[in-house]
Amino acid sequence: MAMPKLKSTGSGYSAEMDEVEGVSRDAIMTLQAKRLAWSLKHAYDNIAHYKRAFDEAGVHPSDFRELSDLAKFPFTAKTDLRDNYPFNMFAVPREKLVRVHASSGTTGKPIVVGYTQADIDLWSEVMARSIRAAGGRRGMIIHNAYGYGLFTGGLGVHYGAERLGCTVVPVSGGMTERQVQLINDFRPDIITVTPSYMLAILDEFRRQRLDPRQSSLRFGIFGAEPWTNAMRAEIEHAFDMDATDIYGLSEVIGPGVAQECVESKDGLHIWEDHFYPEVIDPETGQVLPDGKKGELVFTSLTKEAFPVIRYRTRDLTRLLPGTARPGMRRMEKVTGRSDDMIILRGVNVFPTQIEEVLLATNWCGGHFIIELSREGRMDEMTVLAEARPESWDGSGLVTHAEKVSIFIKNTIGITARVQAVAPETLERSLGKAKRVYDKRPRG
Ligand code: DLL
Repeated sequence: MAMPKLKSTGSGYSAEMDEVEGVSRDAIMTLQAKRLAWSLKHAYDNIAHYKRAFDEAGVHPSDFRELSDLAKFPFTAKTDLRDNYPFNMFAVPREKLVRVHASSGTTGKPIVVGYTQADIDLWSEVMARSIRAAGGRRGMIIHNAYGYGLFTGGLGVHYGAERLGCTVVPVSGGMTERQVQLINDFRPDIITVTPSYMLAILDEFRRQRLDPRQSSLRFGIFGAEPWTNAMRAEIEHAFDMDATDIYGLSEVIGPGVAQECVESKDGLHIWEDHFYPEVIDPETGQVLPDGKKGELVFTSLTKEAFPVIRYRTRDLTRLLPGTARPGMRRMEKVTGRSDDMIILRGVNVFPTQIEEVLLATNWCGGHFIIELSREGRMDEMTVLAEARPESWDGSGLVTHAEKVSIFIKNTIGITARVQAVAPETLERSLGKAKRVYDKRPRG
């Protein structure tokens, strides 16, 4: 069965966009239904895990007739992928793979994902589309500071940028001093990097007494970790640039699953012609209506080597109607992963909530970590927040820190100790930031 192609062209087509970005919601849904039928059958016919899982759930790809039928099919969890390490989740013979990537995973074996040439082409297409939605255009220079290697960030962005017709500077992460030198010398228009590492680059600009607002950077494409609109404001102001959010995960393809449009900056448009989103109640598995917050689940519609059916991302968000691309729904900025959620004496809290509070002060620029400890039988949370160099007077900013602690109590409802620390004290991440250090005794 050949993979279904887009038929209707719609009226919103602009030369600046892929044809599909201008089509109506109805046209997208028709395409999705056809492609879903293909993807379910492809997974069932070629991957032992999906055949077994569908059979056990008593469903067959032929039971799929319309989009709502997808809910009958079983979820795929991270453990299913891990159990099939390294190569048992591929729907094509290994010789057809032109590349593999692997997601790091905090413990145990990584998850290995693979791509045929057609998958790499598709990934390049959605990544090129993402860069363009962020403001990128053919001919621009792009400084790519996402890590190259098994992580999908570096190479994913790289191929998309080439596809769009940009000049890529494949810097990868690390060697911050050199990052700043290259930005100054090559004068890139775009930077792609995790938001936390962007802050480290900002520090280095200041250390070298360079004005970041005078840099050539006009667009930043930040993702791979949760970040807030408060952080966006911080970065946009510091660099005088437009900052947008990019989302993706290795299991679904890598970066380029969803991207915020620079003209609206109102959440990320999901490239729904290739990735079908659902939001479910993480406890019951029930599909939630658009607008309700829950766990994001993806089904790939066109991938050959590594199709995923109802993959549970553990990322928490909600689906919203399309705006800048009316045919495609948006996902709200991801507040966090269900596994990053801290439960402190019964109250749920995400590191992004702490980030928002800290950036509302004028003394903390966004470098922070959260330590969890146990004193007696009580769990304690300590936020170590780094002061901006211009705010630091060596005093520990005690009253400022106390104010934040009171604000956290009043807004989030938890008691946290807040400690201001001197500039350049906290370790900088080169990629994804590690925010939470759990020092509570195990067991
Ligand atoms: O982080 C892919 C990526 C690279 C996305 C570069 C964007 C830019 P993984 O290493 O497999 O893939 O991690 C995927 O990172 O499930 C989320 O929890 C988190 N994540 C990715 N993008 C965002 C984002 C890449 N924009 C996991 N906001 C996902 C919040 C994000 N979390």
